[in-house]
Amino acid sequence: MSENPQPVLRPVLRIEHLRVLHRDGGAPLVDGVSLDLAPGETLGLVGESGSGKSLTLRAVLGILPAALRAEGTVERAGARAAMVFQEPAIALNPTMRVGHLVARTWRLHHPGATRGQARDEAAALLERVGIPRARARLAAWPHELSGGMRQRVMIAAALATDPGVLLCDEPTTALDVRVQAQILDLLRDLVASRDMAMVFVSHDLAVVGSLCERIAVMRSGQIVEEGRTAAVLRAPGHPYTRELLAANLARRLADAATKGARP
Ligand SMILES: Nc1ncnc2c1ncn2[C@@H]1O[C@H](COP(=O)(O)OP(=O)(O)OP(=O)(O)O)[C@@H](O)[C@H]1O
Ligand SMILES: [Mg+2]
Repeated sequence: MSENPQPVLRPVLRIEHLRVLHRDGGAPLVDGVSLDLAPGETLGLVGESGSGKSLTLRAVLGILPAALRAEGTVERAGARAAMVFQEPAIALNPTMRVGHLVARTWRLHHPGATRGQARDEAAALLERVGIPRARARLAAWPHELSGGMRQRVMIAAALATDPGVLLCDEPTTALDVRVQAQILDLLRDLVASRDMAMVFVSHDLAVVGSLCERIAVMRSGQIVEEGRTAAVLRAPGHPYTRELLAANLARRLADAATKGARP
């Protein structure tokens, strides 16, 4: 028997039999999710609204709402996980200047560093995520920035923790199409250049197809199908995945028709 030529990489994230439950009983909201993520690997998490995508990410980070609790195993093999949320206007503290937010996050992970070093790092991170004149923008308030720039700030704050895994919960849904594409380019570039793994939650299968090597399809708290994105989208094995694909295609066609009909 020949030896496996692929090195077996230790997963940066391993989720086993994760369940999320109401503290006061009832059916589980996440019901036995298991997933492995290798270093640098990208996984798209898709499924209808309420299927448990956000709660899965929150359980990984340990930030579930107080009424809920998690069971099962989440191992991170020393890798930090950081999250980028859908709505940067809500996720960003409105009373904190953006430079301070990023510098403060960075300093939490570099306890010996000075304020000046943290400020320099914050400027470098804001520049890395494509914010022009980053140093001058350190003193900006979140409301002074556009939605796309705010999402870049969120990503810079996530990078300030030097994560091995970036958890993105529909990070571009609140943005217009052109800005969406820019943020997706940024994420693609960051994942490639930092060897960072990513879980990307989205309703848009085309976006997942362009961004993620693997895809997991969730329904009612469970993963019903998982595999290489190209293979799953080309030949979905589960009827629900086929339904999702058909719905996505119908929406894309309708969008294209609306655009085409514009004078
Ligand atoms: N704080 C909470 N308390 C009770 N139930 C909750 C809470 N948050 C979410 N749920 C329920 O858990 C289920 C999964 O929610 P979750 O937010 O993970 O769905 P989702 O897949 O992210 O949906 P969407 O695509 O709309 O964001 C839903 O039925 C939701 O109503
Ligand atoms: Mg969600």
